[in-house]
Amino acid sequence: MCGIVGILGTKPVALDLVDALRRLEYRGYDSAGIATIEGGLLQRRRAEGKLRNLSDRLSTEPLAGLVGIGHTRWATHGKPTERNAHPHMTEKVSVVHNGIIENFRELKEELTRAGAVFASDTDTEVVAHLITHEMKKGADPIAATKAALARLKGAFALAIIFAGHDNLMIGAREGSPLAIGHGDGEMFLGSDAIALAPFTSQITYLDEGDWVVLTRGSLDIRDRQGRRVDRPMITSQASGFLVDKGNHRHFMLKEIHEQPEVISHTLTNYIDMSEGRVNFPDIGLELAKITRVTISACGTAYYAGLVAKYWIEKYARVPVEIDVASELRYREAPLPEGGLAVFVSQSGETADTLATLRYCKANGQRIASVVNVRTSTIARESHAVLPTLAGPEIGVASTKAFTCQLSTLACLALALARAKGQISDDKERELVRALTEVPRHISSLLRDERRYEELAHYLSKARDVLYLGRGISYPIALEGALKLKEISYIHAEGYAAGELKHGPIALIDENVPVVVVAPEDELFDKTVSNMQEVHARGGQIILVSNVEPDATGCSVVAHLRMPAVHPFVVPLIYAIPMQLMAYHTATFMGTDVDQPRNLAKSVTVE
Ligand code: M6R
Repeated sequence: MCGIVGILGTKPVALDLVDALRRLEYRGYDSAGIATIEGGLLQRRRAEGKLRNLSDRLSTEPLAGLVGIGHTRWATHGKPTERNAHPHMTEKVSVVHNGIIENFRELKEELTRAGAVFASDTDTEVVAHLITHEMKKGADPIAATKAALARLKGAFALAIIFAGHDNLMIGAREGSPLAIGHGDGEMFLGSDAIALAPFTSQITYLDEGDWVVLTRGSLDIRDRQGRRVDRPMITSQASGFLVDKGNHRHFMLKEIHEQPEVISHTLTNYIDMSEGRVNFPDIGLELAKITRVTISACGTAYYAGLVAKYWIEKYARVPVEIDVASELRYREAPLPEGGLAVFVSQSGETADTLATLRYCKANGQRIASVVNVRTSTIARESHAVLPTLAGPEIGVASTKAFTCQLSTLACLALALARAKGQISDDKERELVRALTEVPRHISSLLRDERRYEELAHYLSKARDVLYLGRGISYPIALEGALKLKEISYIHAEGYAAGELKHGPIALIDENVPVVVVAPEDELFDKTVSNMQEVHARGGQIILVSNVEPDATGCSVVAHLRMPAVHPFVVPLIYAIPMQLMAYHTATFMGTDVDQPRNLAKSVTVE
């Protein structure tokens, strides 16, 4: 997944392209590039690595031109080098692409036989050569693009410009998002409305299979069959201001500290505070009649879904089927007639989650999505949207989005439990009260980060770290391990504490820190037994608990002391030490916390 942008402007566009790309860097940051038309000829500048390298290149080698395209890359085909950076071009055509051209090998062979010379290892370059090939046969740019699009298989969003045509830009969408921005005598293309926010709030989203021919004064949208279609223009709420880090060293730290506030916002959306009861929106299904819920998501959002499974099954007594989206989609899971399928996604653009949503929709499910970006594709394709009010999350490691997803899903569980008659009014008030106390508990946890800084020295020396948890703490152990590995690059795995003895215990020795997530709940004693198994084998325990280590009979290398909280809200509270441990270890090690290697904020390829 990558970010793409295009501008048909009335003044030189190079710096505006870079500005838009800055807003798309969350989609990838392996390399960046722009192309413009100068004196009728295509010119480009590209640079390996972060966008600032491209900016530096442009300050010494500027580009003129009133029309241009830009790209920030998350490498799929070919190494993240300058040679593979977009835009890709021939003497006639320049193209930027987000997605994967699945049949690029056949096309490349065919075009090579016809004389094309490829200069990169990417799948994208075939698009430039394919259009050029059609143009050499006599087609004009529009007819050539139409013919080329008909031959592409896979997922793509494309922006294309043509030598000698400085009032023309073509965009196409098949499986990857693309928005048109309407300016005053100018036109824009972008992977999302956020990229275009400095220029315009008037946005038209292309549907799957659409392609658009833009000039400064016109747009002509066609569907997959080539029919002229109208797509609505909406006013986007995306802010023109780039979110900044404030006084924090990293976006991730800022976002960790925003949690008390954004969890409050999110809860207020689903709770009637004066009544102390859940006030859940109509999702177009009678909750009392739901007999099974299917949940699907990826990464951290999947772990939020896993917590929801424990909540919904325990409190609403409704069975929950959950799987990572990349698996659920392909295992042809049978789905109940008229069932509820819930998708969880911060970005709302994750390709695996979107594909699974479409599978469930095609199989008669009512679709509710828990998303942080309301204008996202997942939100737009859902029957009901349950927004998380986390605000923009910039750090690649998800933090505040996760706890806001949990907040929303907790309210869904309570709404279902009430509709099913599984909880009394008093019980509902007790659980709602526990939720409303979450921001206060998190605020007090965030007041003392020193112990995490101290622990970071110790963890930074580890090669492997294990995380253990039972019951509802198991997904938190998984999330803790994911947070640590993705930003510190230390190998970390989460296990259900009871599974330890079935294999992972072989890994334990005196060099392996083991983080034990052990709130005082009905499974505490069982978790302590597993902790003793670790202790007996020399494992170095980091206890995360409201119970003092003495009570466990184990010596520990660190105790992250937690407040005593209602068991219902344990996942929300215990997520915080997981985030802080990972953050401080990574910053101690000097990794790029906000943009860790090989990752991207929004994963729009399968
Ligand atoms: O935007 P989404 O919530 O759909 O993204 C899902 C995952 O890619 C995401 O949670 C990923 O695992 C994060 N980097 C975890 O911190």
